[in-house]
Amino acid sequence: MHTLLKIQTLNLSALESVTQLNQFQKSLPLQCQRSEVLSTVSGYSGYGAEQGEQKLRAAIASTYYAGLGIEENDIFVSDGAKSDISRLQVLFGSNVTMAVQDPSYPAYVDSSVILGQTGLFENDVEKYANIGYMRCTPENGFFPDISTVRRTDIIFFCSQNNPTDDSPRFIFEIPGAKEVRAISEFSSPLSVLLSLVLCDIPQVALEVSSFSKYAGFTGVRLGWTAIPKELHYSDGFPVAKDFNRIVCTCFNGASNIAQAGGLACVSPEGIKAMHEVVGFYKENTAIIVDTFNSLGFKVYGGKNAPYVWVHFPGRSSWDVFSEILEKTHVVTTPGSGFGPGGEGFVRVSAFGHRENVIEACR
Ligand SMILES: Cc1ncc(COP(=O)(O)O)c(C=O)c1O
Repeated sequence: MHTLLKIQTLNLSALESVTQLNQFQKSLPLQCQRSEVLSTVSGYSGYGAEQGEQKLRAAIASTYYAGLGIEENDIFVSDGAKSDISRLQVLFGSNVTMAVQDPSYPAYVDSSVILGQTGLFENDVEKYANIGYMRCTPENGFFPDISTVRRTDIIFFCSQNNPTDDSPRFIFEIPGAKEVRAISEFSSPLSVLLSLVLCDIPQVALEVSSFSKYAGFTGVRLGWTAIPKELHYSDGFPVAKDFNRIVCTCFNGASNIAQAGGLACVSPEGIKAMHEVVGFYKENTAIIVDTFNSLGFKVYGGKNAPYVWVHFPGRSSWDVFSEILEKTHVVTTPGSGFGPGGEGFVRVSAFGHRENVIEACR
């Protein structure tokens, strides 16, 4: 069963009080005056372009990709990274193989399974057949040795990787990468972009990004995918054209209210406000890191993403999760939910109210 589903089925109400440090609770408001006009009769608008409002596409391109050759029409505004990961899987279809960091956000593997790219789940190793699991450990700085990764059609990289956030910014080469496409996902609240990569065309990859983390937009639902013009299939057909077809078929455009908020985010005041939000979560993170350090645990991450990855060597993540829940009434996330490489860790989220974080760390 999926980790989060399992957590939901636990009877949390049986505990007197529970402090949830396993997810996002509330996002801090940004000043989004631009969305106010949408609440008026004259300012309301109906369906917009599936690819997103031109102004927002242009603002994303100039804010995050200046000098990288990505222009406004290369940006597809979305309702978040998770949905775009699945749309990309639809784009590539079932006849491809993929590799993924292990541990990493479960959507890559799960969408691959749903699309039929994998073999059966192998219980003994807790892996799906046909997926390349790129092991990320404290020893390799939570970034795989690319030269040892077997060839696959698609490689997903997440920067900064959730759950660990320790992956370096990407600029690396994939040996023999002629037919390899790398898809990087940027979700960090603390840094912007980027990514990379490779294949027959150096330094070209798709990038999936989101406002969820660094703008605190988790429930607002806004993100984007950038597809460089140079990215073509081997028969010369542009990948962006194909993705455009998928987007227009499976999606009717991001909410206009969310897009107004996104435009506010990438204004100078918005960027300042986002940094303030990020600063707040960094303080939460520091409180959690200090708590676990003072208890003698080794922690990773928590620098570029609001997640602290606590190591319990040799122990089952689920046992540690249950023990923390039962003894302290704090909900964390078992690391094994992010892949077999997450066994022995729990992930603690700093994306919450300050009072909850302080209460949990008491
Ligand atoms: C690595 C990663 N990618 C994607 C998402 C989901 O992003 P979005 O809210 O844009 O769908 C998350 C949320 O936790 C995440 O950690």
